[in-house]
Amino acid sequence: MEQNTVASLIDILERDHWLEPDQWRRVLEGYTEETARYAAEKASEVRDQVYGRRIFIRGLIEFTNYCRNDCYYCGIRRGNQKAARYRLTQEEILSCCQEGWKLGFRTFVLQGGEDGYFTDERVCGLVRAIKRQHPGCAVTLSIGEREAESYERFREAGADRYLLRHETADPGHYRRLHPPQMSLEHRMECLRQLKRLGFQTGAGMMVGSPGQTVECLIRDMEFLHQLQPEMVGIGPFLPHDETPFRGEKAGSTAMTLYLLSLVRLMLPEVLLPATTALGTAAEGGREAGILAGANVVMPNLSPEHVRGKYLLYNNKICTGKEAAENLQELREAAAKIGFEIAIDRGDHKNTTGPV
Ligand code: 5AD
Repeated sequence: MEQNTVASLIDILERDHWLEPDQWRRVLEGYTEETARYAAEKASEVRDQVYGRRIFIRGLIEFTNYCRNDCYYCGIRRGNQKAARYRLTQEEILSCCQEGWKLGFRTFVLQGGEDGYFTDERVCGLVRAIKRQHPGCAVTLSIGEREAESYERFREAGADRYLLRHETADPGHYRRLHPPQMSLEHRMECLRQLKRLGFQTGAGMMVGSPGQTVECLIRDMEFLHQLQPEMVGIGPFLPHDETPFRGEKAGSTAMTLYLLSLVRLMLPEVLLPATTALGTAAEGGREAGILAGANVVMPNLSPEHVRGKYLLYNNKICTGKEAAENLQELREAAAKIGFEIAIDRGDHKNTTGPV
């Protein structure tokens, strides 16, 4: 009976792309293998209708692990003195892109900590150089909170997309995860700026981070509904030994998959990655993510000598199917579950494309 109720709420979500807070509570608390399977089937149908059975790939270049922030969950937090810090040069980054382009990547994601070395000028120089080298590629930045004017400069330089997970939409929970200098208010303001400037914008959250309750997840869903991001990154929280959360337990893979399905139903056109954290948490996690409604994977294009250094959490995978050079393996894994790897920019449905 209860399951029927949850199933009918999932039907409502599919039809209206929206639920009342109380309905969200029943759906989220109503997680069972059955309700998750039902949500995944529906989400898969929706993804197939909007994008087909295609997986979009993004070449992820983790270009600096210096960070001025001290987020309690993150392995590259400033306070982690054991982290071996590195930054890639522009030449190294361009050669990653060259390698990636040959492999079939048409989107490059420049991700890094909030590193003061990378001034607006340097970031813009990088974006321009990549665009010059590979006309027709998409460039995604994922370099944290900046001034509105900086975002504007990045956009003028040709950046197409920006990833900035909100991490949690609950103010109390946000404070539990971050030092007092950081604020949810500012992060949300950044996201709104990015949208306003015409970036395809990605928000998102960790699942099962310390102190997360159903209320937090309801707020996450409400925030995502309001923001209408083009991308949503969702992965399980995984502890890192050199952080204050070393002793905390990992987020649930099953709940992460359930949330992927629910986000797909709420935002049918969203570009939804099966994240590295999901692939780290469980064998076959990325494939399970795709089957739950995701349609993006972000293989690691960073030079091999730095891959072991961008450790956001313990045991982060970086050499198997998630490595860009093993695209053939990824293709085979995709084929096994009935998908093909798309060789194009993979823009959001409602985006006219190159600007
Ligand atoms: N576990 C899972 N995800 C993490 N991230 C950072 N640290 C962790 C962790 N310990 C995620 C954050 C960030 C993204 C780049 O990685 O959500 O936005």
